[in-house]
Amino acid sequence: AQVLTMAGGSAERPLAGPNLSSWTIIERGYVACVGDKIVAVGAMNELNLAHIGPETRLIDATGCVVMPGLVECHTHLVFGGNRADEFERKLRGESYLDILTSGGGILSTVRATRAASEAELLANALHHLEGFRRYGITTLEAKSGYGLDRDTELRLVRVAREAGHRQPVRVVPTFLGAHVVPPEFKEAGPRAYVDFMLREVLSDLKGEAAFVDVFCEQGAFPLAVARYYLEQAHKMGFGLKIHAEQLHDLGGCEMAAELGATSVDHCDYLTPAAAARIAQVSQGRTVAVLLPLVPLFLRQSQYAAGREFIDNGLPVALSTDFNPGSCPSKNLWLALSVACLKMGLRPKEAVAAATLNAAWAIGQQHDCGSLEPGKRADVLVLNVGSVAEIPYWLGENPVRDVVIGGQW
Ligand code: NIG
Ligand code: FE
Repeated sequence: AQVLTMAGGSAERPLAGPNLSSWTIIERGYVACVGDKIVAVGAMNELNLAHIGPETRLIDATGCVVMPGLVECHTHLVFGGNRADEFERKLRGESYLDILTSGGGILSTVRATRAASEAELLANALHHLEGFRRYGITTLEAKSGYGLDRDTELRLVRVAREAGHRQPVRVVPTFLGAHVVPPEFKEAGPRAYVDFMLREVLSDLKGEAAFVDVFCEQGAFPLAVARYYLEQAHKMGFGLKIHAEQLHDLGGCEMAAELGATSVDHCDYLTPAAAARIAQVSQGRTVAVLLPLVPLFLRQSQYAAGREFIDNGLPVALSTDFNPGSCPSKNLWLALSVACLKMGLRPKEAVAAATLNAAWAIGQQHDCGSLEPGKRADVLVLNVGSVAEIPYWLGENPVRDVVIGGQW
């Protein structure tokens, strides 16, 4: 097969600049796995036939593309209900923030999530994970954020972890208790709410969630409160993430990068100049997670300046942002196509952004994101002939076979 290895990057930092597209493609290649690990990747004419025995399972991928499993680095996997009714409101002209201010949007999913049982939430999450797996997602980040009280937030993290144990896709939970201010804290305000989270919830998350995330936006958390919250979370040992520059430029991405954030997500209103400063202040370690299906679904004309970010040295990753409000799609392949069409990425860049750089965005780069000996055997066979075809077949699912941890 044409093997997209994503190999050759640094162990120190994600792929950036020209390196995002300079990784190795093997034109007539093979991938060999033993148990749950990759043991060799190379050209067919160098394949050591002595390693193939009666126990070896062969998957013929002649004429296909073989690549690492997709890494979905930003989802809101666990929630109750859906928001199909708001789709109509949006089509009539109401904006995302109008709907949120009127008590709908995220707050309507919070009501549905609080009302759901743990078993229902788990069943929904497993249903969605099954869908993701069909698209070739083999590792997935799952944020809480539709509970906004102590018990429900902890339940959402628990459900994400449990869902990860019940099926093969690896689930990495992130704590997004600071998604918006819940009605109970409307009077007291955002600072009082994050103080509550810091005091009552974060200490119970040690070992349960590696990352703390916050939505920095008008109608959610202002910059100063987001900074204070992330600083405190950092002191408690959590990795940092932020939803920022989605609808306005408030400076959230740069602030979080200064605090050492692992990723800054959305970035539609992030300027190329700020992107260059983020690359510098983070020494190329903070990943900008771009979510091209979100502006599409919110009918927004402003898309992240992906081309300029890459040219300015900022590492980028791609994700769907799967959630009931701003992206009810699990089709990461479609996100790759829209990233090429609306953000200026090239096919090789888009593929690396949804594998190795996405793994970096959730601290899983040692384990997945590329086809390299020692990594987990997460391998896809695609029904296309070359990397150029991947973002070309708009909206299709190119996946023929999915191998996760060596299991077909
Ligand atoms: O990443 N921006 C904030 N949070 C989610 C949307 C959540 C929702 O609308 O339910 C996002 O777009
Ligand atoms: Fe999100």
